[in-house]
Parts: sequence; structure tokens; C-alpha cells
Amino acid sequence: IRKIAVFTSGGDAPGMNAAIRAVTRAAIVNKLKVTGIRRGYQGMIEGDFVALRSSDVSGILQLGGTMLQTARSDEFRTAAGREQAYQQLKKAEIDAVVVIGGDGSFTGALVMSQEYNIPFIGIPATIDNDMYGTDYTIGYETALNSVVEAVDKIRDTARSHGRIFFVEVMGREAGLLALTSGIACGAEVILIPESNEQHIELEKFLHKGYKKKETSGIIMVAEGDEAGGAMKIAEKVRNEHPDLDVRVSILGHIQRGGSPTAKDRVNATRMGVAAIEALLDDQKSMMIGITNEKIVHVPFNKAVKLNHSIDNNLLDIHKLMNR
Ligand code: F6P
Repeated sequence: IRKIAVFTSGGDAPGMNAAIRAVTRAAIVNKLKVTGIRRGYQGMIEGDFVALRSSDVSGILQLGGTMLQTARSDEFRTAAGREQAYQQLKKAEIDAVVVIGGDGSFTGALVMSQEYNIPFIGIPATIDNDMYGTDYTIGYETALNSVVEAVDKIRDTARSHGRIFFVEVMGREAGLLALTSGIACGAEVILIPESNEQHIELEKFLHKGYKKKETSGIIMVAEGDEAGGAMKIAEKVRNEHPDLDVRVSILGHIQRGGSPTAKDRVNATRMGVAAIEALLDDQKSMMIGITNEKIVHVPFNKAVKLNHSIDNNLLDIHKLMNR
């Protein structure tokens, strides 16, 4: 291979820039030319390409978001869209591609590499940390810290007013961000899609709160929880416990922004370098992961199986703290 492309796709995550920088510099050191594709698969279809030199990725390591921008492309889901994307890659003489994103991005890469002879290597970047085969995805750690910072502030006002706050956290169908941030903030109850017994814990807590009016509380709600989000749960609780002072806070996209933490920067750099090494080693359709602090290679078809398991130990620890 002589020339590679790199792009970011799906929801952005802090640390994506660190990964772009690492891919670019590792490729250049190995005498490869680098093209950045803007706006994910949509930019690939439209040929929105930019040549990347080492100096072009200078000063981005500490920045949130992605300098190449990102998109969720409906057109790429069609065979005609992928054909056009392939023609654009061919025209630009691109021999291999590094995709930085989550499961939707890797599914797209897998389909395209089955249809056309072009190797793809993936770097997992999503605040949801829901990829199979890796302990870690870029952005998760930064998002976790952002949630903790926000909830600590909410705790101050909750305590002052004796209120119960339902705090909604992102994560799509995964509850890990809600679970770990809930433990870090000492949440009284954590509602996650992976365990419905937490709703019983909520009832117990509300009963206690109803008796002692001064009780405040933080209920973390994963957006994917079966009960349908913080607003809905809070409404139900208001109806059933009219004496409780209930508020809702949906943290939203502040969880996706901000300067990446040191861990996100270091791991993004490790995975960026590993992606180039994998390409030079003739690997394809592989996600780079980190398991037990070591770099691993996970085939795309395994990585995209949504990781619905949760560490029960974490849940037990949370319960123990609130007994
Ligand atoms: O996958 C990352 C994520 O932030 C999810 O946690 C969330 O459900 C989704 O993206 C939101 O997507 P959008 O920014 O397109 O609204």
C-alpha cells in the first residue's frame, strides 16, 4: 500500500482528533501518503478529500470533536452509494482505509470491504463503550468525567432543596456510562437497560424518601432504559408520590464535547499507531481494541455485535453502597 485514507464517522467522541493525528503521523513515518475524508461516509461518496501532512494534525491532540467532521450517511446504506464511494477512493488512488467510529461505521466498512477489494481497519470511538471485544472505546472516559462533573453540581442543589433528581445519561442501548458515572457520583439508584431489577430499588428508595421529606437523591437514568427516559419516569413518580419534589436533568450533548482526558489521548494514540501497523501487516476488516491494557485485533463481524453484558460486580458495588 502507498496511500491510505482516514475518516471519522457516526457520533463524535473526544479523542477522535488524537486518533487522526496518530494515524497520520504513523502512516507518514512509514512512507505512506495520507488523505483525510471529511464528513464520514457522506464525504467519501462526494469525494470530499484533503491531503494530510504531519503539520496539518499539529495542535489538535487536545481538542474535542473531530477536525474531519462526521456524519451519519443514509446514502452509504445503498449499494449505489457504496459504488460511488468506491469510485471516489479509486480515483484518489487510495489503497486502504482507517475508519474511526462505532458499530454503525464498522458495519458499513464490513459491507463495503465484502463488495470491493479495499482493506479497512477500525478504531473504536464512541462515548457509549458498547463495542464487543474491547474494554475501551475512545471518548468514553472523557464523557464519564463530564457526567461526574455535571452531577456533582446537581447534587449541591438537590441537597439544598431536598429534591430528587432524575439525571438522564447517553449511551444508546448501553448502560455502562450511567452505571460507572452513577457509582462515581454516589447515585442512590441507577436505571440501566441491562438490569430491570433496578426499578425495584427505585421503589424502595422513593418509599424511604416519601417518609423523610428532607431526603434528596440522584437517580441516574440511562437513555436506553426500558422505562423510556428520565422525563417519563419522573412523570410517573410525580403522579405516584405527589409529596416528593422531583426534577429532571437531561445532560445531552455536553457529554460528547470537551478536551479529551489523558487516558483518551494516550489510548487514541496507541490505537492510531496500531491501525497503521495492522494495515502494513496486510490485515483487513479488523477493529483495533484494548483489552487488559493490551492492543488486540477484533474482526469487524464480532465487534459490531452489540455488547449487552454489564459487569455485575459494578452493579453489586453500587447496591452495597446504598444498603
Ligand atoms: O453513540 C453516541 C451517542 O451520543 C449516543 O449515546 C446517543 O444515543 C446518540 O449518539 C445521539 O446521537 P445524535 O448526536 O445523532 O443525536
